Amino acid sequence: MNIIIVKNYNDMSRKAAHLFVGQILQKPDSVLGLATGSTPVGLYTELIKFYKEGMIDFNDVQAFNLDEYLELKPSHEQSYAYFMQKNLFEHINIRPENYHIPSGTANYQEKECERYEALIAEAGGIDLQILGIGRNGHIGFNEPDIKFEAITHVVQLDEQTINDNARFFDNIDDVPKTAISMGIKTIMQSRGIILLASGIEKADAVAGMIGGKITPELPASVLQLHPNVTIIVDEAAASKIPSKNI
Ligand code: GLP
Repeated sequence: MNIIIVKNYNDMSRKAAHLFVGQILQKPDSVLGLATGSTPVGLYTELIKFYKEGMIDFNDVQAFNLDEYLELKPSHEQSYAYFMQKNLFEHINIRPENYHIPSGTANYQEKECERYEALIAEAGGIDLQILGIGRNGHIGFNEPDIKFEAITHVVQLDEQTINDNARFFDNIDDVPKTAISMGIKTIMQSRGIILLASGIEKADAVAGMIGGKITPELPASVLQLHPNVTIIVDEAAASKIPSKNI
């Protein structure tokens, strides 16, 4: 694991954007794995700036999002499809046929999972995947005790995740309880991974991911086994990493 500790959220976002820009310059038809949540918003803002300055072109880029809530239409303000439009896609020249998000409203959810996994394989796999981390150590929506062999699948959200995400909804009862998520195996098949974390509330999960046991109880700990993973954390999120790991 390549661990980069930066001062704050803005520095984390800039550093991650540089790695993404490098990836796109090196391979203009890169397949990117994208994430939602508050963590990658700054990265997307930086990428939009680079695009507007003419430094990168998304015309040949393909993108796959990690996950989507079940039962929210893409027009719902809290759907991840909506989030991606507002925070990235509508500001850059990525082609609509080139970005993909699991459908939360597909009639046959299992079929949708298979379709999504096949689409990633057809694109040749993911070159660079961005990840956030949940306070319980989840990546995507792979909650504690997930099987590491899981591919894209339907997940039941943890109580902590539902509570954490309640801030985006008017009422906690409105938070979806289920989602479709790339599995740990899907994520681990990415050729490169960048995980971002900011803020003291992520410090325990980050410390466990880097310095703890590799265990499904803390899904992100599986990243210790990936050959090309960069963790970019701000000082608060890094504050509990055991010194032997830095
Ligand atoms: C959700 C997403 C994750 C994300 C996590 C953390 O559960 N499915 O991909 O990493 O939230 O969110 P935040 O970045 O807002 O802390």
